[in-house]
Amino acid sequence: IWVCACSTGQEAYSIAIVVNECLKNAGKNIEVKIFATDIDEKSIEIASKNQYPKSIKKEIPTKLFKKYFVEDGNHLSVLPEIRKQVVFAKHDVSKSPPFIKNDMVTCRNMLIYVNTVLQDKILSTFHFSLNPDGYLFLGSSETAHGIKQGLTEISSKWKIFKKSGVINYATFNTYNTQGRVVQADKKKTLSPEAPLTSVEKSFNKFITNDLGYVGVFIDKMYTIQEAVGNYRQFLELPDTKIELNILKMVPKPVSIVLNTALRKSWKELKTVHLTRIRSKKNGEDVYLNISIQPPNEDHPFTMIVFGESMTEIVAENEDHNLSMLAETHHGEYVFELEAELNETRTNLQMAVEEMETTNEELQSSNEELLSANEELQSSNEELQSLNEELHTLNTEHQLKIKELVE
Ligand SMILES: C[S@@+](CC[C@H](N)C(=O)[O-])C[C@H]1O[C@@H](n2cnc3c(N)ncnc32)[C@H](O)[C@@H]1O
Repeated sequence: IWVCACSTGQEAYSIAIVVNECLKNAGKNIEVKIFATDIDEKSIEIASKNQYPKSIKKEIPTKLFKKYFVEDGNHLSVLPEIRKQVVFAKHDVSKSPPFIKNDMVTCRNMLIYVNTVLQDKILSTFHFSLNPDGYLFLGSSETAHGIKQGLTEISSKWKIFKKSGVINYATFNTYNTQGRVVQADKKKTLSPEAPLTSVEKSFNKFITNDLGYVGVFIDKMYTIQEAVGNYRQFLELPDTKIELNILKMVPKPVSIVLNTALRKSWKELKTVHLTRIRSKKNGEDVYLNISIQPPNEDHPFTMIVFGESMTEIVAENEDHNLSMLAETHHGEYVFELEAELNETRTNLQMAVEEMETTNEELQSSNEELLSANEELQSSNEELQSLNEELHTLNTEHQLKIKELVE
């Protein structure tokens, strides 16, 4: 869950408590991670501190207060188990890459403060960051009108929406983050021919009418597992390095576009079509149509279908348009990488925080053990001195008995 514009943390903790309640009621034990972000560093500091004035007690239902809060001096705080579920971070949603693969994004009472262009860009970012069927939860006076084709309204009263369709991120300027550096061209690596088996059945199902197309099946590491048809016409084959990475077997501009489309297909679990992609066939310039089908119950690999666009003749001076196309895909690709990096960074932060807590717990257990040990030692000493006293008493008794007998 991503709680965007969380201010001083109340919303994030409320969501954590509600999630806990729902899971308990449903009898489920699922680990839920909550990323809570705000542009304002001071607010994030307050949120992380988890110390609120007692005056807010009246805003919390008594039953939940008893269950999830502790009072300490002048403050009240959520229980450590709730605190541990939330990671707070400073983040500007209008400029920084988003957190991805969320089942829910909440952003309440922030969009009302920005203009409609920025609203739509931010909404498109939320759409991008949601898993298919994920939920978007806005403030009561906010709307998701700008991206309505990508959402289904679940509750008009509570402003809850479900990600149900696609939107064109490029038109919302979603991929535009500041300070991005686009990677320079890398050296081409040529790859050898792979020993391929036939998966004609699955391939034929996908192309039916378009004979002459080429199907390549890859795994999530981009490695070719199978190929059907005369794949040599579209893939650059053997030279030096033994590698079956599809991205290294197609010309560089195709590689960038293909990579972006593959990631999109994997993310949205949908077939993606690319048209008019300029490439080489048997050394000559051609336009390609490429379709990508993610793994499904029929086959565990991703199917890529290459076909030459029959109606197109490559214009000699179209390089400008094509480089613009490549740039757009570059932007999209870099944006996705940045978002993934963002997620990895947050996971790392979460792991570090968990480790710190475990460390603190271990330290306090250690201290408890040490003090128990000291107590045992002093009890032992007391027992020893008692033993000595008993010993003396015994000797005295024995002497007395001896005297009496005599
Ligand atoms: C009115 S508060 C809403 C707080 C909370 N969501 C609620 O409903 O109680 C708006 C918050 O949006 C944050 N904000 C404004 N612009 C932002 C941006 N570009 N990225 C992230 N947070 C932003 C502000 O710092 C502020 O904490």
